[in-house]
Amino acid sequence: MMQKYSLLAPAKINLYLEVVGNRSDGYHELIMILQSIELADRIDIQSTGRPNIQLHCNAVQLGEPSQNLAYKAAQLMCDRFPDQFNHKGGVEITLDKQIPIAAGLAGGSTDAAAVLVGINLLWELGLTQPELQELAAQLGSDVPFCIAGGTAIATGRGECLDPLPSPHGVWVVLGKYQDLEVSTPWAYQTYQKQFSHTYVTDAALIQSRTSHVQSGELVQSIMQHNSIAIAQHLYNDLEKVVLPHHPQVEILRKTFEKSGVMGTMMSGSGPTVFALCETAEQAQKVKEQVSITLNDSNLGLWITQFSTHGISIRPH
Ligand code: C5P
Repeated sequence: MMQKYSLLAPAKINLYLEVVGNRSDGYHELIMILQSIELADRIDIQSTGRPNIQLHCNAVQLGEPSQNLAYKAAQLMCDRFPDQFNHKGGVEITLDKQIPIAAGLAGGSTDAAAVLVGINLLWELGLTQPELQELAAQLGSDVPFCIAGGTAIATGRGECLDPLPSPHGVWVVLGKYQDLEVSTPWAYQTYQKQFSHTYVTDAALIQSRTSHVQSGELVQSIMQHNSIAIAQHLYNDLEKVVLPHHPQVEILRKTFEKSGVMGTMMSGSGPTVFALCETAEQAQKVKEQVSITLNDSNLGLWITQFSTHGISIRPH
């Protein structure tokens, strides 16, 4: 029996994010198309035999461990499965953060997803993917997607998932100012202040918006693995509040646009901007050109590509 697992927890980008309206639970009704990328955190998790949860991380700025979503994921499993917790003891989690924090890339959510998957393996619970996703939804709106990963339409709070075939060979350049973080609640609250007049709450209208996306050009482009068409149909409502508030992000986006990429968009609530490229060579060129043009040591740039999966066991 394995006592230790090493997992890879991929980040995501939003190919599409539409804010449809308010929900009675205080969240927003969303229509999103989520895409896993290969940029991933590494998570080691092992049973300790001690009655507690320990969390270590290479990134000091993560703060109080018990406030971390990965810790809360372990706590949830201990509460839900007290017999296994009593029998096997707690876990020690080591996070190797590669995904930028508060970036719109679901970094915290994917770490939490990895902890659920890891404890399911360590404690031999035999939970199915839907069962894991049900637990994941209690931790955050993006956590269920992070379990399965790949490509999916997400509705509701973001937890209702409809898988799509994953296009492969699509290259991604990510740009994020290292010292700039955007709070997701801030982005949604600001959007609500400015755009609540556009909100739809009627169930039939929400369904018709969803159908519109399901049969729309972006989904068709994904089904056809047509990366050029995918890049032409990217969309994110939250750009309307984040870009005016952070002009440097707007400039970053414009710089990507001018560097000959297939398409560019802010991911989630930002402030990461991603650009889609046809080849690894093009991605490398775009990265160099943007780096030279903006000449800012605070700007982080990464090259990655679409991934077909969520949490996986790390190959040795
Ligand atoms: O679900 P999660 O904890 O990741 O969401 C973070 C915040 O983002 C929420 O507290 C809320 O302010 C906002 N949010 C929202 N509607 C969603 C998802 C997130 O308003 N569907």
